[in-house]
Amino acid sequence: MKVVVSLGGIFFSDAETIKNVAEVLDELAKSCNLYVVTGGGERAREYINIARELGANEALCDYIGIALTRINAKLLISALTNAYPEPFLDYKEVAVAKVKGDEKRIAVMGGVSPGYTTDAVAAILAEFVNADLLLDVTSVDGVYDADPRIDPSAKKYDKLSPTELVALTMKGDLKAGSRIVIDPVAAKIIERSGIKTIVINGSDPRGIINAVHGKHQGTEIT
Ligand code: UTP
Repeated sequence: MKVVVSLGGIFFSDAETIKNVAEVLDELAKSCNLYVVTGGGERAREYINIARELGANEALCDYIGIALTRINAKLLISALTNAYPEPFLDYKEVAVAKVKGDEKRIAVMGGVSPGYTTDAVAAILAEFVNADLLLDVTSVDGVYDADPRIDPSAKKYDKLSPTELVALTMKGDLKAGSRIVIDPVAAKIIERSGIKTIVINGSDPRGIINAVHGKHQGTEIT
């Protein structure tokens, strides 16, 4: 089974958290052909805000975010036992590197180009490598009709169609560093490729393995 995991920036706060998630990913890679895309987290937002204060435009802020996602990719690689030694910089590089016989090695990458987030990178990668599952591991319990961190009456969806997901995400903001569960570009890619996607809360990283086996309390997009 080929799985692409989009690992939100929350996993990169400290060494212990990175170690815990790396252990789970190493275990998962024994039974899955695994690809991991790393987010930028609070550090990316911090740098983006400083750049914006200095007058940087949105594209430059995006490039700063991308740099931070790639640093997180390097941190994750440091903690994994069987990963390619460098983060990949684009989709084709990954496909060229992961030849037959190399399925147990984890491919890690961060952002690619301005205008979207690592959710979209993960969706494009999943499309490009024909993944069976895209797993979006984030800080909320799934996809809601509003941001649950701001609106306590927000309702979580157990299931959504890709078209419903596109409609929901189009209401969001796509500025560099903005907080959205899935960005609209990712939603459009999921819609066009029909790739099965699950959004889960990553507070317990073992939930990643359970979700791959179909056990989760997040949101399924099919
Ligand atoms: P993230 O992928 O971490 O944003 O990229 P996110 O998903 O909103 O945040 P977390 O980590 O899950 O909390 C950080 C920023 O880097 C830029 C964007 O500005 C994004 O907001 N970025 C990232 C790009 O422009 N292109 C990419 O391919 C990736």
